[in-house]
Amino acid sequence: MPLVNSKKMFEQAYKNGYAIGAFNVNNMEIVQGITEACKEENAPVILQVSKGARAYANHTYLVKLVEAAVKECPEIPIVLHLDHGPDFETCKACIDGGFTSVMIDGSHLPFEENIALTKKVVDYAHERGVTVEGELGTLAGIEDEVVVESGKESYTKPEEVIEFVERTGVDSLAIAIGTSHGAYKFTPAQCTVNEEGVLVPPPLRFDILEEVSKKLPGFPIVLHGSSSVPQEYVKMVNENGGKMPNAIGVPEAQLRDAAKLSVCKINIDSDLRLAMTGTVRKFFNEHPDKFDPREYLKPARANIKEIVRHKLRNVLGCAGKADECK
Ligand code: G3H
Ligand code: 13P
Ligand code: ZN
Repeated sequence: MPLVNSKKMFEQAYKNGYAIGAFNVNNMEIVQGITEACKEENAPVILQVSKGARAYANHTYLVKLVEAAVKECPEIPIVLHLDHGPDFETCKACIDGGFTSVMIDGSHLPFEENIALTKKVVDYAHERGVTVEGELGTLAGIEDEVVVESGKESYTKPEEVIEFVERTGVDSLAIAIGTSHGAYKFTPAQCTVNEEGVLVPPPLRFDILEEVSKKLPGFPIVLHGSSSVPQEYVKMVNENGGKMPNAIGVPEAQLRDAAKLSVCKINIDSDLRLAMTGTVRKFFNEHPDKFDPREYLKPARANIKEIVRHKLRNVLGCAGKADECK
């Protein structure tokens, strides 16, 4: 089947208590690892491309890689989405250039300016059958070139969401409830220690999610910054020459709970980066004589596939849901 927009996926995800995985793609091995897992698990998927990805790999290469995945996986619905669209022009270039969904990220703008920019994108996108994600509230961490210092983030204000959605016409809304981008989402000082000595971060603000959901019944919510930073990969990186002290993510059980509520799209990038980097570092450490990129990218791709499979089955709950999303 051809690329689809996110409409049907979100309707089904909302109704049936799961979320669609939105995984960032930057090269062939990442596209293959994700889509091979989704094909084997019969899962719908959103492949998302950031401004940085377009600058790194080139728009055409990324679209063609995703088109190749569509051809190889004809039985699963795939969305090609712009992640953190920074302005109208980038959204327009992606809409005109084959994307089926875009995010316009006006979250750093004053409310009225965010509404005006988001509505402009929605008007252009909807005429062309493309769905749009907007954002209210800011996450800590780095989103492309926008760096939000820890402590300067702001939770979404539930009292703003109805007006934002009604005046812009967006199809989904990203909200800030305590997640953040990257591999350092919480400091050890913010965490408690459980009986096994594992650091447990403060819980996400489910109270805000519930208030937003009450105000927008049936409306799909998006969570950015939802990597869980698996400690086995942090260990693999650190044991093989890397230095990632105190990397901490969002506990997977909380994401599973969010997916059962109104959260229909969960963004995951850092976990795939960690799987890829840990695997490549380990390979180089164990095989200092090897220099064929295929030899180290092959296990990296295989581990991306396995981590995506785990997310589909155990975190998102969307394994086996491809058919109902068509
Ligand atoms: O939100 C950020 C995503 O992880 C994309 O990261 O801008 O480095 O491609 P990037
Ligand atoms: P992570 O850094 O937690 O993977 O978040 C990715 C993201 O939100 C992409 O938009
Ligand atoms: Zn994001």
